[in-house]
Amino acid sequence: MRLTVTGNFLFKRLLHTEIAGNYAKQQPRNLKGRSKSSQEWLTRQLADPYVEKARMMNYRCRSAFKLLEMDDKYGILRPGDTVLDCGAAPGSWTQVAVERTNANGKQERAPQGAVFSIDLLHFHAVPGATIFGGMDFTSTLAQKRLRESLNGRQVNCVLSDMAPNATGVRMLDQESITNLCYEVLRFAIAMSAPQAHLVVKVWDNGDVPKLESNMLRFYEKVKRVKPRASRGDSAEHFLVARSFKGVPESSSKT
Ligand SMILES: C[S@@+](CC[C@H](N)C(=O)[O-])C[C@H]1O[C@@H](n2cnc3c(N)ncnc32)[C@H](O)[C@@H]1O
Repeated sequence: MRLTVTGNFLFKRLLHTEIAGNYAKQQPRNLKGRSKSSQEWLTRQLADPYVEKARMMNYRCRSAFKLLEMDDKYGILRPGDTVLDCGAAPGSWTQVAVERTNANGKQERAPQGAVFSIDLLHFHAVPGATIFGGMDFTSTLAQKRLRESLNGRQVNCVLSDMAPNATGVRMLDQESITNLCYEVLRFAIAMSAPQAHLVVKVWDNGDVPKLESNMLRFYEKVKRVKPRASRGDSAEHFLVARSFKGVPESSSKT
């Protein structure tokens, strides 16, 4: 469901009400026997308005609101678009992409899009999307399978919410997520339609400005975004790159 201007207004009001009201003060029960980190997680979930919103709107997780917000602001998903969702499990971005591209054909008068979603994990089907579960996006096999499924079709939007398993070693983790971003960028450059868009998740670190400037070689605009639904205590940001320019002459000769 695309939030209209009125819908957005009501949504903000609801969030405000939830944060200001009793909801934010709810305390989890039956915490006995749980570890401290599990207690903290439960408390945070209960105090988080996006968790309840996701449940009410049938999204598989709260992350849906990050993509909804970025799409509302930058208009990266349109009916009829072909979308690739990398790191898609449990599937809330895929749900949003299916709705907004009309990949499920629910909007009778709008063109029907297509969504291809891949994750290391197996996850439940999302009606309207083609799912590649249990596949590493960075593998040659996965990218071959994606190309075959696209069957010559160019992609209008590539999304990556991929995050590596954190080792706790800051430098290593930063390098891993940056490598994932470059892998996605490479695939997007090869498969994108003119004017296509790309969204990648980064953990704010010293590598991001270089990545940003590399993305700018191929896209008209690149914005660093922290959606409201992204937790304030997380280093997570997104780079939203709009309007794919194609491969510059100089790059294609190298
Ligand atoms: C934050 S979750 C994605 C949540 C998803 N956007 C949603 O809204 O449901 C990050 C996902 O990236 C996946 N991931 C990490 N590295 C990957 C890789 N190399 N190939 C495919 N998926 C990967 C993880 O398995 C994990 O499910």
